[in-house]
Amino acid sequence: MKKVRIGLLGCGVVGGGLCELIRRNRGVVADRTGLELEVQRVLVRDPRKERPVERSRVTTDAAAVLEAPDVDIVVEVIGGLEPAREYLARAIEAKKNVVTANKALLAARGAEIFRRAADRRVRIGFEASVCGGIPIIRAISAGLVGNRISALVGIVNGTCNYILTRMSEEKCTFAAALAEAQKRGFAEADPSLDIDGHDAAQKLQILAELAFGAELDHVPFPVEGIRLIEDEDIRAAAELGYVLKHIVVGKDLGDALDLRAHPALLPDVHPLAHVRNEFNSVLLRGDAVDEMIFTGKGAGSLPTASAVLSDIIDVSRNGHDHAEAVWHVPASPGRPVAADLESKYYLRFPIRDVPGVIGLIATALGNRGISISHASATLLPARPGHGNVKIVAHRCAESSLKKAVGEVERLPVLAGRAVVLRIFEEG
Ligand code: HSE
Repeated sequence: MKKVRIGLLGCGVVGGGLCELIRRNRGVVADRTGLELEVQRVLVRDPRKERPVERSRVTTDAAAVLEAPDVDIVVEVIGGLEPAREYLARAIEAKKNVVTANKALLAARGAEIFRRAADRRVRIGFEASVCGGIPIIRAISAGLVGNRISALVGIVNGTCNYILTRMSEEKCTFAAALAEAQKRGFAEADPSLDIDGHDAAQKLQILAELAFGAELDHVPFPVEGIRLIEDEDIRAAAELGYVLKHIVVGKDLGDALDLRAHPALLPDVHPLAHVRNEFNSVLLRGDAVDEMIFTGKGAGSLPTASAVLSDIIDVSRNGHDHAEAVWHVPASPGRPVAADLESKYYLRFPIRDVPGVIGLIATALGNRGISISHASATLLPARPGHGNVKIVAHRCAESSLKKAVGEVERLPVLAGRAVVLRIFEEG
């Protein structure tokens, strides 16, 4: 039996889940893999807190984990850029294999980290960085490695999906749904990363780098969150035959990539439309396999720990002497991101209830060539004299739409910022 001594950096939602999972399934893992897992050292910020490991294994000294001769593999589940980046660099320098769940760090500094790991001939497992328990990294980089992937669309943020599901099914408020997501351990330490779309964008970047073979650190693409969405939008979407979801889209257009993370109205029949709560789902298209869908819990303690554990086992089995097994850093430079693509749009304008308001908005949109397929107005019982005008616009370029919405927002009848959502009607 080969012993694997784990140095764990962080013992929060994911780290605690990993300790629990190892305790629960140590025997099964040993039978299946011949590996005996041991959580050797755990780096924490507060040593007084109750932890799921013996107190003697807990330390506040990073060097006691990173440079310890009795630690075989370093597992980073602290999150954020620093000190996680520094710790990974030190572990790699000390020639220790690394497992990380840190999508923010990989999205910002991935190329540099993987190059350093390749130089030092150590491996980095990062399955847990995208879509929690779904083995999507392994699916793309191993299972589907013989395919050219042309497109992917996914729900990759569990917190957003949980909030939108709760708002839609339980009439929960945005704030209450977010508080629940935080309590259940889905949200990031700073939940604005979730609700403003950045967490999803980081995951899209990692998926796109793997799927399309491009280096995308610091390549900007459109990122929008769900902060402005109200119950009203969810209901309007349903009446129009759509479901409101936060999605990421990646497409290889040949000379450029279409990359974006934003809320969208999905047709009710779309395979991702009924992925609920903290579940994630990625639909991708490969030239050999055609369409595939991967669905599972994308956030939470044990699902994410499952991905971390699979990396610990994979990295431990294919350890130091397999330089070719290190994730291949693409030699090609970053690909340009396509701009100003066309889409159908759902628009909601908060208005003061005055005569001709729909006409004023329709004229402003029409002046910019934006054509309307549906328009309706509702009044707000709780706010007399105020309401919303909701519009579905035909396909139009993003730049024309933005200019037109800017002009509408300057009309004196407007009572707030417009909500602008793409209608996703692609395959
Ligand atoms: N905050 C993330 C989410 C956790 O909600 O999806 C998993 O990366």
